[in-house]
Amino acid sequence: MEVVILKSADEVAVYAAKLVGVLLKLRPDAVLGLATGSTPQALYRRLVTDYREGKISFKDVTTFNLDEYLGVAPDNPQSYRSYMNRELFDLIDIDKQNTFLPACKEDENPREVGQRYEEHIQSAGGINLQILGIGANGHIGFNEPSSSLGSRTRVKTLTQQTFHDNSRLFSSDEFQPTLAITMGITSIMEARKILLLATGAGKADAVGRMIEGPITAMCPASILQMHERVTVLLDEQAAAQLQNRDYYDWTWLQNESLKKRFGVPDDS
Ligand code: PGA
Repeated sequence: MEVVILKSADEVAVYAAKLVGVLLKLRPDAVLGLATGSTPQALYRRLVTDYREGKISFKDVTTFNLDEYLGVAPDNPQSYRSYMNRELFDLIDIDKQNTFLPACKEDENPREVGQRYEEHIQSAGGINLQILGIGANGHIGFNEPSSSLGSRTRVKTLTQQTFHDNSRLFSSDEFQPTLAITMGITSIMEARKILLLATGAGKADAVGRMIEGPITAMCPASILQMHERVTVLLDEQAAAQLQNRDYYDWTWLQNESLKKRFGVPDDS
């Protein structure tokens, strides 16, 4: 794992946008795996700015989101489809026909939706770069603690903690779902490169367990230790519980200077 610790959430967003920009320069038709939640919002704002300044284009990009609520229609403002349109898709030059979420219509079987989503990702050539957040309980996507590390896209029940964490986004008279369709842990692990963003003190414990704890289904993000190409971008607060902090800082400095000297390309 490459662990990059930056001063602020803002710097995390700027650096993450830079990595996405490098990929899109090399591969204008990249397949991106996208996440929702509060953390990637700053990244999406940055990408919109870079697009408006003519630095990047999403014209030929395809996207697959990690998850979507079950029982929330796409045009409901609470759906992740609405979130993605609002935060990113409506603000850039992406062809919305090439943007996908594992949404399940009322008359569809969620199991089949999950299987089709997997096939769809495969037929698009797989994901070049997967953006991830992490839950305070260590979840990635909606793969909650105890999710099978071998899981594929399927229905998951949110934990009470996730339900509670997300309740700030719902008003008291609004339906708040407890079910979602999420890419599985194995589906996520098939991405060629993974970029996980975590900011704020609320993530420090989960980040510590993900990077330095044992690999366990009780912290689904810990499986990322088994992926060859993961970059974890943290602000100071999210990095606060890391024991091995000096080493991450030192390694990152070495890698940056190697890239400067040899121009090591990111071949995602
Ligand atoms: P957050 O969610 O970015 O809203 O904290 C992250 C996640 O639950 O994966």
